[in-house]
Amino acid sequence: MTSPQDIQQLSSNFNAVGLSTSPGVVSASPNDSYLSQVRQRSFSTAKHAKPLKPFSTGDIKILLLENVNETAREIFAEQGYQVEFHKSSLPEDELIEKIKDVHAIGIRSKTKLTEKVLKHAKNLIIIGCFCIGTNQVDLEYAAKSGVAVFNSPFSNSRSVAELVIAEIITLARQLGDRSLEMHTGTWNKVSNKCWEIRGKTLGIVGYGHIGSQLSVLAEAFGMNVIYYDVLMIMALGSAKQVRTLNDLLAQADFVTLHVPENPDTKNLISSPQLAAMKDGAYLINASRGTVVDIPALVEAMKLGKLAGAALDVYPQEPGKNGPNFTNELNSWATELTSLRNIILTPHIGGSTEEAQSAIGIEVGTALTKYINEGTSTGAVNFPEVALRALDLDQENSVRVLYIHQNVPGVLKTVNNILGNHNIEKQFSDSRGEIAYLMADISDVDASDIKSLYEQLEHTPYKIVTRLLY
Ligand SMILES: NC(=O)c1ccc[n+]([C@@H]2O[C@H](COP(=O)([O-])OP(=O)(O)OC[C@H]3O[C@@H](n4cnc5c(N)ncnc54)[C@H](O)[C@@H]3O)[C@@H](O)[C@H]2O)c1
Repeated sequence: MTSPQDIQQLSSNFNAVGLSTSPGVVSASPNDSYLSQVRQRSFSTAKHAKPLKPFSTGDIKILLLENVNETAREIFAEQGYQVEFHKSSLPEDELIEKIKDVHAIGIRSKTKLTEKVLKHAKNLIIIGCFCIGTNQVDLEYAAKSGVAVFNSPFSNSRSVAELVIAEIITLARQLGDRSLEMHTGTWNKVSNKCWEIRGKTLGIVGYGHIGSQLSVLAEAFGMNVIYYDVLMIMALGSAKQVRTLNDLLAQADFVTLHVPENPDTKNLISSPQLAAMKDGAYLINASRGTVVDIPALVEAMKLGKLAGAALDVYPQEPGKNGPNFTNELNSWATELTSLRNIILTPHIGGSTEEAQSAIGIEVGTALTKYINEGTSTGAVNFPEVALRALDLDQENSVRVLYIHQNVPGVLKTVNNILGNHNIEKQFSDSRGEIAYLMADISDVDASDIKSLYEQLEHTPYKIVTRLLY
């Protein structure tokens, strides 16, 4: 066991990350101003908090793969963590070697953290997925091993909403076709069936993070917005919720889909729904590929029922860039690509520099808060537990972080161990077979810390013990 490390100085640097901008200074780009706002929000709560040092962990080592955004690397550097950074993912044998002694790993979608890989990770406490999806990680095995997993599901909502606005105008003005024609030397100046979007009705299916952003943007363009959601959701601006999907389909000039992928949304838009749409309406799907029955869409386009469509997502998507969008992948690919006024994009709805930066900050901050304070809010595989920070003057206080199997009697055992001290606050939650207890205890001498740690380590249902002091 390594001795406790003094990271007081490093922890106080934590507060310095919220780079404040002077009043009156105009930032160089919207990105800069947005990012500094996010940083200030992320770190402002740490102002009067006691910086905590880990007992028994040694220096925190982080392995970052797949070119994780520099916003995250800046956050870890400020913390003084030891960061090993790689631009790409690693072959499995190299990954197994590298993961052995790190406390945290940051990945995107290509690195597969399977049980085979994770069982070599003896010191790992946290995995950061710097992306939306988490199916590249064996979440259950990670939880059973006491490893929390975080991701960033909503950092790219605005990027998707902006893409959809662009597609609405592009479809209404047939810009895709005109541009293709010009690229092949054809001048085709037409106004027939080209429209302004002002005064048209946008029907949003799924009024969550993306759908509601889009609602605000569309109204600014003078569109009437209606939406359908399985939940009753408060409208933004003058938008109106409709009762059924068919009500929406009957009224909307543009239908745009922003629902999750699940059994209920599979082929949510198929032949009957396409038939229920207005003649000459447009369909946009930037949600998930399974939500639209694409052969039915091809049919509706061929019959002239729809005037256009935009697809960003597909049931099967190529694993890498290149000439891979073929009939072998999806049997209807050639038919789809030969249609007029149909915009096809390679799942780029959330792919912007701003989204990548925001993901770096969100996941980087979540990892730091879990390592430094034990806060697991937002974890995807783990009980979500948080306690307010210890104050600067609580010198002899210790934060106990205890991950254990969710069985009766554990809390009694733990509270017996903590019982000689004053338990100032305590919170425990469980998720499936895993439970997580966080407690702040006071009146702890430096000499008590080792004994507390060892007693907790020897309890029968313990998975991971960490003490911060
Ligand atoms: N194209 C891209 O690059 C990209 C990027 C980010 C997200 N997405 C996808 O966009 C979709 C929406 O993302 P979000 O962040 O807005 O999700 P969200 O969870 O914030 O919102 C989804 C909304 O859909 C509603 N809903 C669920 N089932 C429904 C149904 N059967 N009918 C109507 N409404 C239903 C929910 O109540 C919720 O309000 C997701 O599928 C997500 O994976 C795509």
